[in-house]
Amino acid sequence: MSDRYAVIGRPINHTKSPLIHGLFAQASSQHLEYGAIEGSLDGFEAQVLQFRTDGGLGMNITAPFKLRAFELADRRSERAQLARAANALKFEDGHITAENFDGIGLLRDIEDNLGEPLRNRRVLVLGAGGAVRGALLPFLHAQPSELVIANRDMSKALALRNELDHPRLRISRYEALEGQTFDIVVNATSASLVGELPPLPGGVLSEARLAYELAYGKGLTPFLRLAREAGVARLADGVGMLVEQAAEAFAWWRGVRPETRAVIDRLTIALE
Ligand code: ATR
Repeated sequence: MSDRYAVIGRPINHTKSPLIHGLFAQASSQHLEYGAIEGSLDGFEAQVLQFRTDGGLGMNITAPFKLRAFELADRRSERAQLARAANALKFEDGHITAENFDGIGLLRDIEDNLGEPLRNRRVLVLGAGGAVRGALLPFLHAQPSELVIANRDMSKALALRNELDHPRLRISRYEALEGQTFDIVVNATSASLVGELPPLPGGVLSEARLAYELAYGKGLTPFLRLAREAGVARLADGVGMLVEQAAEAFAWWRGVRPETRAVIDRLTIALE
């Protein structure tokens, strides 16, 4: 029998994970099965434990279960702890280990695929939710000259700042960004999912080299449109992040790092 993995979430019907991991397995000659499970709000934990009992070796976790997966684990990486969320689990030696590869996937996409290293760059991240929590450690390790987190609800940004005191990390209200410019701006809010735009003062994007929208497959979101109007050279959505976080999980489970370029190309949907 092949080694078994699965993604669990609710709803799960639009997930690309089985396709991505299937392509990785094929390209790296790994024999594995990767399925998709519709999570139950009442029975998520029981479903995960059952999958493990049935011989499963690992799972990807997607909304709305990342926090519950983190809590279910008995071992947690530093990244997962800061994110307070797991997007991948490994079942090994009687333990459930939680990882969070969303942030490192985003960083790899920006640095390796889009060719924009964060080192010595001014980086602005919009939002202070789970996605941003996952990205903070990898981003700071990449040594930007400064990393600014802007959020409407300052209590959330403050909570983040209190957990991770770092000389290059700053939090800001949107209004206070007036007159500042950044090299790389990442929209990690959920605003685009409902066609909204974070209240970014004009001019903030005027010197940006890259505007990155975390949402995948939403086309030219209001944020990307604003970036295009501001003349930002490079616009990207989250397809590369999606594939890179999957590659991290694959390497963690299988000990083999898959090639990502062809998979990203296959999943890319033109922005317009
Ligand atoms: P995720 O886990 O995907 O990061 P989340 O934890 O629900 O999602 O957080 C959503 C983020 O999007 C928050 O930072 C939220 O800002 P507030 O904390 O100020 O509410 C942000 N967000 C959602 N809609 C927004 C909008 N229209 N403009 C700006 N920020 C928005």
